[in-house]
Amino acid sequence: MLTTKPRGTNDILPEEVYKWQYLEDVVRKVANLYGYKEIRTPVFEHTELFRRGVGETTDIVEKEMYTFQDKSERSLTLRPEGTASTVRAFLEDKLYAKHLPVKLYYMGAMFRYDRPQAGRYRQFHQFGVEVFGAIDPSLDAEIIAMAMDIYDHLGLENLEVELNSVGCPHCRNSHREVLQEYLKEKVQDLCGTCQGRFNKNPLRILDCKNGRCRDLVADAPTIGDMLCDECNKHFQKVKEYLDEMKIPYKLNPGLVRGLDYYTKTAFEIVARGIGAQGSIGGGGRYDNLIEDCGGSSMPGIGFALGLERVLLTMEQQKVLIPRLEQMGVFIVTLGEAAQKVAASMAQKLRKDGITVEFDYMGRSLKAQLKSANRGNFPYVVILGEEEIKKGVAILRKMEESSQEEVALQDIVSLIVKEYKGGKNNE
Ligand code: HAM
Repeated sequence: MLTTKPRGTNDILPEEVYKWQYLEDVVRKVANLYGYKEIRTPVFEHTELFRRGVGETTDIVEKEMYTFQDKSERSLTLRPEGTASTVRAFLEDKLYAKHLPVKLYYMGAMFRYDRPQAGRYRQFHQFGVEVFGAIDPSLDAEIIAMAMDIYDHLGLENLEVELNSVGCPHCRNSHREVLQEYLKEKVQDLCGTCQGRFNKNPLRILDCKNGRCRDLVADAPTIGDMLCDECNKHFQKVKEYLDEMKIPYKLNPGLVRGLDYYTKTAFEIVARGIGAQGSIGGGGRYDNLIEDCGGSSMPGIGFALGLERVLLTMEQQKVLIPRLEQMGVFIVTLGEAAQKVAASMAQKLRKDGITVEFDYMGRSLKAQLKSANRGNFPYVVILGEEEIKKGVAILRKMEESSQEEVALQDIVSLIVKEYKGGKNNE
């Protein structure tokens, strides 16, 4: 136990972390291009927020939440997603008093007690955006365009936008009736959870992961085919904007998404070839959520992508991820006097923004040179006992395979000049 991480969680190891930093950097840059500001909310919230926000009969609330009582017996839940928390903060911190629409993004760990498999974890990371206060269908299309723009910046290909409208409570009521009619003979064959959903929220049966339920609803009436006039009009406009922006999409009238708050536009972005968990992002409009969470009537829309799934897709598509970290100088030391000189030389170089490492383990010259090589340092400074006595150091430029003797008092300025002027600074 002590040396085993909890099931469904991952360590992001030092040699992998550059991929995450790159991905985080790209999504932040794109968010900035579209005018979003970052918000950071707690990783846990009052359980009630998700019950209300995400919906009592969703898989997330019924089966997947990490809920616990704190020492004061409050029921708290590790956030399974970011939308409800962002709405809560928008209301609590009165962000609505600012210029509307309010455009926010977030990034961080989410928690769902799901069955772990490739691309599905119990702790995973999302980047998400939310816009509060705008109803215009051009925004729905822009959010989809932004999602695709992020994947494009990352070099991903072969993605498909699946698009639907899940209507408003008005369309939902008509759909509910025909769906119940369709399912009434099949109720006893549904899983236990879906039997409970039949009366409470039959739409959720369409989203059940149970294979038997899936088969039973394969030909069920779809919400996308039963929209009221207003929802239809909105949906037409969204499609027109997407056509205008030349963003291809595939209509999927059966797409209902796993969260109850959606109204009108719902979409998912699917990557083929990363296995069953191909949905690398999803979102939609939620025009009643802010009111349901205690605010005034105000529309909202957003989407989130799963960072692990995006990285898996990048790996699968063999996208080359640049390393952002820059190596600078490795100082090889022999003897205590050299170690002291190295310590102050390292500090001076670091003050000038150059990464420096040296040996603290009293290793041999050969072993230290090996470390320098392994770390891909473009410069190696060698400080042996002889050099210290002479007041010099040996500077090796690894790429040119050359070396020279440099006076100790000149070495820092020489490296800084070389480093900043040379190709290591490109
Ligand atoms: P979601 O579809 O539940 O939507 O999650 C968004 C993305 O998070 C998924 O497309 C997937 O890439 C990733 N994801 C979900 N569950 C897991 C998991 N167990 N392991 C790994 N990755 C996962 C939402 O969460 C909504 N809050 C999105 C949204 C924002 N809608 C409007 N605004």
